[in-house]
Amino acid sequence: FQLPEVKNEPVRSYAPGTPERVALKQKLVELNQGGLDLPMIIGGKEVRTGNLKDIRPPHNHRHLLGHYHQGDKTHVQMAIDAALKAKPTWEAMQWESRAAIFLKAAELIAGPYRYEFNAVTMIGQSKNAYQSEIDAVCELIDFYRYNVKNMDTIYRMQPNSSPGIWNRMVWRPLEGFIFALTPFNFTSIAGNLPGAPALMGNTVVWKPSKTAIYSAHLIMKVLQEAGLPEGVINLVYADGRDAADVIFNHRDFAGLHFTGSTGVFNSMWRTIAGNMSKYKSYPRIVGETGGKDYVFADETADPKQVATALTRGAFEYQGQKCSAASRAYIPITLWEDVKRFVSDDLSKIKIGVPEDFSNFVNAVIDEDSFDKLAKAIDDAKASPDAEIVCGGTYDKSEGYFIHPTIILAKKPDYITMKEELFGPILTVYLYDPADLDKTLDILDTTTDYALTGAIFSADRANIEKMTARLTHTAGNFYINDKPTGAVVDQQPFGGGRGSGTNDKAGSVFNLLRWVSPQCIKETF
Ligand code: ALA
Repeated sequence: FQLPEVKNEPVRSYAPGTPERVALKQKLVELNQGGLDLPMIIGGKEVRTGNLKDIRPPHNHRHLLGHYHQGDKTHVQMAIDAALKAKPTWEAMQWESRAAIFLKAAELIAGPYRYEFNAVTMIGQSKNAYQSEIDAVCELIDFYRYNVKNMDTIYRMQPNSSPGIWNRMVWRPLEGFIFALTPFNFTSIAGNLPGAPALMGNTVVWKPSKTAIYSAHLIMKVLQEAGLPEGVINLVYADGRDAADVIFNHRDFAGLHFTGSTGVFNSMWRTIAGNMSKYKSYPRIVGETGGKDYVFADETADPKQVATALTRGAFEYQGQKCSAASRAYIPITLWEDVKRFVSDDLSKIKIGVPEDFSNFVNAVIDEDSFDKLAKAIDDAKASPDAEIVCGGTYDKSEGYFIHPTIILAKKPDYITMKEELFGPILTVYLYDPADLDKTLDILDTTTDYALTGAIFSADRANIEKMTARLTHTAGNFYINDKPTGAVVDQQPFGGGRGSGTNDKAGSVFNLLRWVSPQCIKETF
């Protein structure tokens, strides 16, 4: 039989006068009322601890939306127990039923829950309507639908047989449970990290970012409504160390599906390595981590195109995409034109709360992030090796607002050319076009990250040369386009080096990590 046809979910514009804009505005009013009381969901049951933590919008931190119930090690253990209990039935369930649950969840998000997913991400994670639509609605739907299609592709991958012999591959899930640790910056990633292993027949302990509990809880409710049996995914709000202590010491820990910082990933990897003798099997470790993503232009590049890539690539969602452009290498001869176009773009950008749809830039996620970014701006102001050419202001009186900032680095190894900041700060280094090769070497060796990168050129020979020279600097490489906005099934996403294990979310490569195939030979 054939699965339903799969297409990328069409993006709604929320332009003035559209019915979706009216519906979303209504939803925002409704969901901003407050009174949230969000329990954990373990073994299909709501768990309230009474250890209440505030939920506040990053762009309006005086507004208390409500609380979530923080758990501890006991709850992590409960989640593991529930996952292991649910495993035999889930694993034995017909794969069509597992697929149907995720296809139904996709339909619920595309239809009745569309504005809720969008609004919750706007409010809880300070995303504008369009950025929420492409993330919390379209990309999450795409993950669920394409994962099903890719699962079907995997299950059809079978070895050759011959008369009298039947060889077959059984795509078993892993033995044990999976730990999904999800970030704040994409609701779609938060839904996919527990979702992908679960679809392949695994059961999951899911710990979301404490700054994105509102959307995590909604994902879980919709999966339950779609028919996810109890215990298949268990949502726990716990401190990272508590979760790690229990999970990484458990004999049945079978895999980690992670998106977050390189430092946290490295530390978990070391812990897992140290505990290896405790586990039944070698755990699968899949992680997408940090980035110091770049834009590199040569002399023939179109300055307007480069400027658009910089403003959109660096400042969409306040630069908090792992793919965001945060360093740029521009030929000195092109800079005046690029700067003029960028300044022009930035002069039209409005900053403020996402509920006002004319704001392109909203708040950064929390006070820690704000303070780190403000410090980077102050340091640049004080440094002889840097100059602020745009922005450079910030304000946390109402919300955590950092104005889009461009730093001109006088040295290619100035700190913000090297270190990930995760905010709306772009650092530009101007190079002499005669030093193109040397500058490519610098780009390659300045950081240990290799997530996304974009080159701009009108010269085919240069495009070829830069593409070859920069091959290991990015898992997602863009030619004459910004380095953000990968679409599921069109640009499978992930990077190498310090940016992760490059298992390409939403693709067969990722799903293959959640199975342990068994080859059966039967002779007649
Ligand atoms: N998939 C996201 C992007 O490409 C991270 O921007």
